[in-house]
Amino acid sequence: MKVMVSGGAGYIGSHTCVALLQAGHQVIIADNFSNSQPEVLQAIRKISGKDFIFAQIDVTDSKAVQTLFQTAKPDGVIHFAGLKAVGESMSQPLAYYRNNLLSTIVLAEACLAQDVRQFVFSSSATVYGANPSPLREDMALLPTTNPYGETKVVSERILTDTAAANPGFAVALLRYFNPVGAHSSGLLGENPNGLPNNLMPNITRAAAGRLPALRIFGSDYETPDGTCIRDYIHVMDLAEGHLAALDHLRAGTQIYNLGRGEGASVFQLMNAFEEATGNKVAYQIEARRPGDLAVSYADVSKAERELQWRAKRDLISMCRDAWRYEENLLRKPDR
Ligand code: NAD
Ligand code: UFG
Repeated sequence: MKVMVSGGAGYIGSHTCVALLQAGHQVIIADNFSNSQPEVLQAIRKISGKDFIFAQIDVTDSKAVQTLFQTAKPDGVIHFAGLKAVGESMSQPLAYYRNNLLSTIVLAEACLAQDVRQFVFSSSATVYGANPSPLREDMALLPTTNPYGETKVVSERILTDTAAANPGFAVALLRYFNPVGAHSSGLLGENPNGLPNNLMPNITRAAAGRLPALRIFGSDYETPDGTCIRDYIHVMDLAEGHLAALDHLRAGTQIYNLGRGEGASVFQLMNAFEEATGNKVAYQIEARRPGDLAVSYADVSKAERELQWRAKRDLISMCRDAWRYEENLLRKPDR
């Protein structure tokens, strides 16, 4: 299949491109590098041993997207491109609504115009709001606490309505839990422009001495050790979940949780990191971060049953791979 990957230079997109190329798919990447670097493209080529088409475009630009579809002629789309920092979405809501909603609309329009009928979308566990875990795909969605989350809810709705109105249009809404880790080569990983918000990159930075200490946001939650529980999933398992979703696309809308179905607390992830790498992580307990839920983990039985996919890699390999990538970054002269 020839797959157009929006946001393919980003963290999850780049790992998925490697998996797609290695599985024999052709890839067209569209990215504007707003949160990634061009050198990622070279790493994808190096790991996969394959080449691909790249277009440096903004996927909210309808004309640029239509032109790319006309020239590259994809069979399907995986739409990763989006802004993803929850806190920033509260201070810049319009930027989030514009980028994340318009990109979905523009890509869906290009699909309909060019008779491309396969669409996979990067959604998020955030759409479940405060539902109790384990989170199931058939739960009614509860309000999210921020504009980022709303862009995922509305994008899901835009694509569901588009599939309903256009017979043959096939959509998979993939609700990711907490992707962490890196490709085992150490060549690809999570390297956002600016300061990271997520836990794992802050653990690796604290271990590397790039931060004085890991800031732990709250140790007074109703959980066994008082810190929040999340469903961490290795980014390569997540990438492979996209291949399974592509293989099982069918007309209409399908929704799948991509997680491991197991929760780990902040302390548990930090301890796994120390065990996997032999590094100590200095930390300090701070106030709760606004909007954080105490517990979020997936019921993954639907993806296992229908996609014949399940995550294989454990917390230790997530930590080891994240650290290998961080060490490679530190060796670079400009760091
Ligand atoms: P990322 O920021 O690393 O990657 C996104 C990529 O899209 C970047 O390369 C960026 O330059 C590009 N991009 C953004 N807007 C664009 C535009 N208008 N045109 C072209 N390119 C654009 O993020 P990620 O972690 O790889 O996340 C990918 C997707 O998965 C996002 O939609 C995100 O919301 C979703 N998601 C991520 C997580 C997570 O924890 N990482 C969790 C749930 C859902
Ligand atoms: N945390 C810290 N210190 C940090 C960073 C995070 O203690 O420096 C804690 C948070 O308070 C939270 C846990 O680690 O308890 C996980 O936080 P992340 O930011 O890594 O992940 P979230 O679950 O908050 O958010 C992620 C994605 C969002 C997505 C959400 C639900 O980043 O995009 O999962 O899918 F919306």
